[in-house]
This record gives sequence, C-alpha cells and structure tokens, in this order.
Amino acid sequence: MSVAYCSRMSTLVAKNKRKRMERLNLKLSELVDKNPQLASVLHFMGIYFYQHSENTLGEICQQRGLDPDLVIRNFNEPDTNLKLSGINLMDYPLELVVEYLKHMHFVFIKERLTYLARLIEQYPDNEAVDLQDLKLIFPHFMQEFIEHAYEEEDTVFSNILILKKILNNPESLKTDSAKLPSLSIQHLAQAHQHHDGEMAEIKEIMDQLTVNAKLDVHARVIVASLRSFMDELKHHAKIENEILFPKALELEKSVLAL
Ligand SMILES: [Fe+2]
Ligand SMILES: [Fe+2]
Repeated sequence: MSVAYCSRMSTLVAKNKRKRMERLNLKLSELVDKNPQLASVLHFMGIYFYQHSENTLGEICQQRGLDPDLVIRNFNEPDTNLKLSGINLMDYPLELVVEYLKHMHFVFIKERLTYLARLIEQYPDNEAVDLQDLKLIFPHFMQEFIEHAYEEEDTVFSNILILKKILNNPESLKTDSAKLPSLSIQHLAQAHQHHDGEMAEIKEIMDQLTVNAKLDVHARVIVASLRSFMDELKHHAKIENEILFPKALELEKSVLAL
C-alpha cells in the first residue's frame, strides 16, 4: 500500500468521524430542518422530532438505547421505492406494471399517508401558523385515496388479470369457465380520476403556507413532506394513464378479437 493511499484513507476516516460527530451534536429540529426527509426515517424508528426538538440526535440515541451508527446508516439508505420509480415501466409486461402499482398503493397507505397523518395531527393548535384547514381536509383526502386504491385493485387490476388469463387460454371462453369482465377497460379508463378536489385544496393550502416566512420547523417539514408525496402521486397517476391503461386497452382488443 502506498504512503499516498494510506494518507488519503486516513483523511477520509477523519472526515467521516467529524461528519458523524456533527450529526450527533445537532438538535433534532436542526437535523430535520436541513433535511426534511430524515423526519420520516426518525418517525419509523419511533422518534417524533417535534417531541424532542431541543434534544440532540446523540442524546436521543442514548436515551433510547439506539446504536448511533445504525441510525446514521438508516439516514444514508436510499428509499428503495424512490429508486423503483426510476424504472421505465413501458418496457415491462402488463402483469409487472400491475404488481408495481399494487406495491406502491401499499407503500402510500402504510407508510406515506400514516406518517403524514400523524405529522399533521400532531401540529400544535396554538402555534402562530394556522393549519386547521389542512387538519380538516387531510383525513378526507386520505380516506378518498384509500378507497380509490382498493377500488382500482378490485376492478382495473383484477379485470386486467382476467383478460390476460383468457388471452393465455382462449378455450376457457368457449367452455364457459371464464367470462369477460362486465366493465370494459375503455369504461374504466374514462372513469379513472385522481381526487383532484382534495388534491387541489391541499395544494392551495401548501402554496399559502410556502409564502409564509414565519413557518416553524414542524410546519416546514409538513410542507416539504406533502410536496414530495404529491409528486409521487402525480408520477403514479401518470404511469396508470400513460402505461397501464394503454397496455390494458391493447390487451382488451386482442381478447375481443379472439
Ligand atoms: Fe393507483
Ligand atoms: Fe389511480
């Protein structure tokens, strides 16, 4: 090993140690203000930054008996679901697109929405920033989304899988062991809507909040987390409208031509 290599390595180790200490000495409020995404990582470790905003990360780890290196490693882990959103689903078979969308419904409901609901609900009522409208609208938005996702799975996704089965075994139609779904893909594609009502209201509230210069850290984390969730939802709807439905319409055409 060369002397230059060893010296580079020891500089790197010293730099990492310094960074680690800097992070552990930051108050939770400073940590999430620098990087709002870390609030969600902390949430899933049972640490709610707004309840311990004046404590440093090092203090919290000590109080909870958590290994600080493990916590920091979790901060550095990229969100695999965000990585997944980079794949070009156009190149994948329809069944895989359905599986991906189902997986994202699960992530949205079990992770993103439960986190956001708690983050919003826990915002203190007596703060200078008024989040009452958001507190009122968000549970409706969440309910609407959950219903939409489950309905989509029970109609669109399941019809697609039935059509695929028929295409793979056309005889099943003749022997009456399979039936064409009662609702056409064309009909479902037209009916597919994305809670524009609540989404537009939430967007309006977020825009009003963003221009408010007096936002505290908790409110800033809410705005940043909502914004990134809305972006994910837009991407999800785009996949459904531009990849899932066009592929499903093609499949339906092939089945009807049998
Ligand atoms: Fe969906
Ligand atoms: Fe949808």
